Amino acid sequence: MPNEKHTSNSKYMYDTSANTVEEVRLAGLNSLHNPHTLSYLKPYFHNKNNLRVLEIACGGGYLAENVLDSHSRNISSFTGIDIDPAQVKLATHRLSKYHTVNIAKLDVLTELEQLEGPFDIIYCRWLLVHLPKDKIEEVLSAIFKLLSPENGVFLCDECDNRKVSFINRTEHRAPPQASIATKSWKNISKALMTHFGNDLELTPEKIGSYFDRAASRFHMSGKTTLEGQYQVTLETKEQKNLITLGYESSKEPLIQSLQAFNNKVDFLELMKPFYACREDEDIQIKFLLETVMSFQRS
Ligand SMILES: C[S@@+](CC[C@H](N)C(=O)[O-])C[C@H]1O[C@@H](n2cnc3c(N)ncnc32)[C@H](O)[C@@H]1O
Repeated sequence: MPNEKHTSNSKYMYDTSANTVEEVRLAGLNSLHNPHTLSYLKPYFHNKNNLRVLEIACGGGYLAENVLDSHSRNISSFTGIDIDPAQVKLATHRLSKYHTVNIAKLDVLTELEQLEGPFDIIYCRWLLVHLPKDKIEEVLSAIFKLLSPENGVFLCDECDNRKVSFINRTEHRAPPQASIATKSWKNISKALMTHFGNDLELTPEKIGSYFDRAASRFHMSGKTTLEGQYQVTLETKEQKNLITLGYESSKEPLIQSLQAFNNKVDFLELMKPFYACREDEDIQIKFLLETVMSFQRS
């Protein structure tokens, strides 16, 4: 039924086992973002030994591979978990060259207690936004329980989807279609959010309050760092395709939710501005006001 509201038991909205397009998009996003993510993770690995590390929602293991390439000598064991069997398979294959790695298919909402902690570093990226809001505090508490009482640290990276905007770097102005593109992005986020009952507009303030409430149950000291507006420059055609691929992968749920709400917006019309990027245009998409949370047990 198109207008059936998904519950908190919904599958992950971009289930990659049925969707290779989404897999390609995630791989591309990783190649754009990982240098930035690695730079904020780095200090927690530096000059440390025998670290037990857990990545939650590791996807296809792209970030894990970069982390292990840079820090394997600091790590004694690395665990990655994800709910999606296709991603787990990919990650297992990708990381098989490391002996210290264990990848498991686990649902962060219900199965965290199957993990044997404690961990010195736990991190996740782009996960909370996909969870039902009313479960986030509970999930954070379960994560905090897995942290080593001796300075275990949890790092969480989420983005603020409200901050999407496009500029043309060469001409220092918005490209002609920018405002339509920004508006489309917002419409699509909103429709997906309604459809799945999730909140794609997790603001830094909202995430901060979940963290504060969960941390207050433990003896955690933490800080929320707004990393500033993170800018991704889309220069190649492949990179620009990531944006359109993203929409392709969201197409079915989006159309369903637009129909459910009797909204006559034509999906392909919404997509047009993205296809309209000229091949030689150097577009900077400012879409991540990154919120990096680091919480430490002491
Ligand atoms: C946007 S992707 C991010 C993947 C990876 N963290 C990255 O940065 O590339 C979200 C990931 O969360 C996983 N996921 C969603 N819901 C989950 C759940 N309840 N338990 C575990 N993983 C989940 C998805 O399968 C997907 O791999």
